[in-house]
Amino acid sequence: MTAPQLLTTVCATRAALERKRAGGLTVALVPTMGALHEGHLTLVRRARELADVVVVSIFVNPLQFGAGEDLDAYPRTLDADRELLAAEGVDFVFAPAAREMYPSGESETRVTAGHVGTLLEGATRPGHFDGMLTVVAKLFNIVGPDVALFGQKDAQQVFLVRRMLADLNLPLDLEVVPTVREADGLALSSRNRFLDAGARQAALSLSAALQAADAAAGEGLVELLAEATASFGDHDEVTLDYLVVVDPDTFLPVDEHYRGRALALIAARVGATRLIDNAAITIG
Ligand code: PAF
Repeated sequence: MTAPQLLTTVCATRAALERKRAGGLTVALVPTMGALHEGHLTLVRRARELADVVVVSIFVNPLQFGAGEDLDAYPRTLDADRELLAAEGVDFVFAPAAREMYPSGESETRVTAGHVGTLLEGATRPGHFDGMLTVVAKLFNIVGPDVALFGQKDAQQVFLVRRMLADLNLPLDLEVVPTVREADGLALSSRNRFLDAGARQAALSLSAALQAADAAAGEGLVELLAEATASFGDHDEVTLDYLVVVDPDTFLPVDEHYRGRALALIAARVGATRLIDNAAITIG
C-alpha cells in the first residue's frame, strides 16, 4: 500500500498531472471536502476503473458555506482520509489551504448557478451553489481531469455541474455514482457522524419517505406526496424542510399531470444536522 502523493499547491499539482498526461495517461478527479466515508471510496473505486491516474481533492470550500453554517464545525480528518485513500491505491491527494485556492480572499469572480441554484438546497443556503460551482471549475482547471466523479446523493449539485460542463464547454466527462446506503437505508454522509443513536434512528424517516414515494409513484404525484409525507411522520427530533418531485432534465418541480422519469428529493433537519436524500422514480 503506497501512500498517495500529497499536493498542496496549484503549481505542483499542475506539473504532476501534466507529466502524467504527457506520458499518455488518463486522469480521474474525485472532488471531496474530506471526512471520507464508504460513499467517497465507492467514487474512488469507480475512478480507478475509469482512468490510469486517480486524484482526490480534499478542500473544505469556504465559498459554499453561508453565514451561520457549519464551516468551522465541518469535520477535518486529513490523516485518516489519506490512510483510507492509500488503501484504495489513489495516486494524488490535492489538499490546498484556503489561501492557496483564494490568495486574495474569496474570489470576486464566480460561476453562477442560475435559477435552479436558488431552489431547494439553494433556497436554504443562498450562494451555496455559486460557491460550489466556482471551486469545482477551479479544481477542473487545476487538475485537468478526463473524468470527474460525483455522488448521486447530492442530486442538485450533480445537475448543476452537468449543466456547467455543457454551458462552459468544459472538456471532461461526468460520472455519477449511485448513493451508498447503510443496510437500514440511511444514505451515507459526512454529517452522519454528528447523529447520536436517537437522531440516527430518526434520520431513517428520510429514506422511508422516499421508499413510500417510489411505492406510490404509479398512482401519480398527489398520491405519492401524500404517502411519502405520511411515511415521514411526525417526530420531535426531525423537521421536514422539503419533499418535492422534480423533472430530472430541468430540476424544476413537476405538476400533477406529469408522467415519466422523476426525482423525489427530501431534506430534513435532524437535531442540529441537516440531511438530504433522493430517489429516482417513475410517475404514472
Ligand atoms: O460535494 C462536495 O463535497 C462538495 O460540494 C465539492 C463537490 C467537493 C465542492 O466543494
